[in-house]
Amino acid sequence: MGNIQVAIDGPAGAGKSTIAKLVSRRMGIIYIDTGAMYRAVALKAIRQGINTQDRERVSQMVNNIDIKIEHAGNEQVIYLDGEDVSGKIRIPEVSVGASNVASIPEVRLKMVDLQRKIARSSSVVMDGRDIGTYVLPDAKYKFFLTASVEERAKRRYQELVEKGITNISLEEVKKDIEYRDMNDASRELAPLVKAKDAIEIDTTCLTAEEVADKIMVHIGESKC
Ligand code: DC
Repeated sequence: MGNIQVAIDGPAGAGKSTIAKLVSRRMGIIYIDTGAMYRAVALKAIRQGINTQDRERVSQMVNNIDIKIEHAGNEQVIYLDGEDVSGKIRIPEVSVGASNVASIPEVRLKMVDLQRKIARSSSVVMDGRDIGTYVLPDAKYKFFLTASVEERAKRRYQELVEKGITNISLEEVKKDIEYRDMNDASRELAPLVKAKDAIEIDTTCLTAEEVADKIMVHIGESKC
């Protein structure tokens, strides 16, 4: 029997990572947050003083980058050149940088290769922007999560406050999200778009558990 692939896509703050984690736990398979990979690339660029929009320098840099994903229980741990950067990649500067480096084809091709390798070796719930359309177009289960921009900004702001990051306002978080929505949806290679065969779920008024329940119903139903 082949590996199970569950693709969860959608814009920033739609709840993908939280929900992908819940679904993976219920299914007993691993969870891959692909955004973390682009974040790690952005962190490396920022640390080296490279503008995250500079295609030439960023693509040169990714020729020599080592990104590894491991799991500690149900938590994903990401290593950048051997260093655990799981916590360091969550700051707003890295979010915007990740959206920038993700529009560079050389970066995407390298990350997509890594993502496909992981999905070949085990069953996965993978979340991102292009999983159902580009990374795993044959995934059996595809979901596209949405929510209003206000709700998404509120969620991201709350997450930042919980992590002790208070040097950014709700309005600034909303602006970052709007910038990333536009940037992620308008890039040439593998833009953020709903796959034709994905099930769309508006999470604005739902808890993460409620969204996971809906997803599990679809997965259960299609097994019968
Ligand atoms: O999901 P996230 O917010 O951690 O993702 C950070 C950025 O990475 C996002 O703005 C766009 C990019 N990204 C992407 O282009 N493709 C993916 N599969 C995942 C993330």
